[in-house]
Amino acid sequence: MIETRLNIPRSFSPRMWIPLLMLISIVWMSGCYYDIEQDLYGGGSPCNTTDVNFSGVVNPIIANNCLSCHNAGLANGNVRLDSYTEIKKYADNGKLLSSIKRDGTIAKAMPPDAPLGNCRVNQIEVWINAGAPNN
Ligand code: HEC
Repeated sequence: MIETRLNIPRSFSPRMWIPLLMLISIVWMSGCYYDIEQDLYGGGSPCNTTDVNFSGVVNPIIANNCLSCHNAGLANGNVRLDSYTEIKKYADNGKLLSSIKRDGTIAKAMPPDAPLGNCRVNQIEVWINAGAPNN
């Protein structure tokens, strides 16, 4: 009985551990890689800050994250973000960027409870720096 038990560890030779350790480290490293990518890009796909326009990028971000509190019927803080003209106003006076960057300089942090991801903030900043065009 005792001899059988003592024999068990022999089957776990160092050679058996090598593939196992390699497998574990591959899984572990790919896990880390995925985490970092999520952190940087906020969705697992690369952040596109080169082809940023109003209709395809900026307006959808605002529609999905701001419009519920800033529309014609419910304009919190008297701010409406339901048209290019209204959005352009806050792009030009700096409040749009200040609010989404949550820098506390000239506007309150927006959205109040769920910050926009870095990618979205960067995309809106690129658009504003390009003069906030209606494109
Ligand atoms: C859950 C509701 C809600 C959402 C979502 C929301 N806001 Fe607001 N927002 C408010 C409220 C409430 C105020 C008024 C705050 C105050 O004056 O105390 C406000 C005020 C503002 C102001 C004026 C801030 C100032 O200090 O002058 C701007 C600009 C603004 N929001 C932009 C945005 C943008 C951009 C988004 C989306 C990224 C957004 N908001 C999403 C509720 C919201």
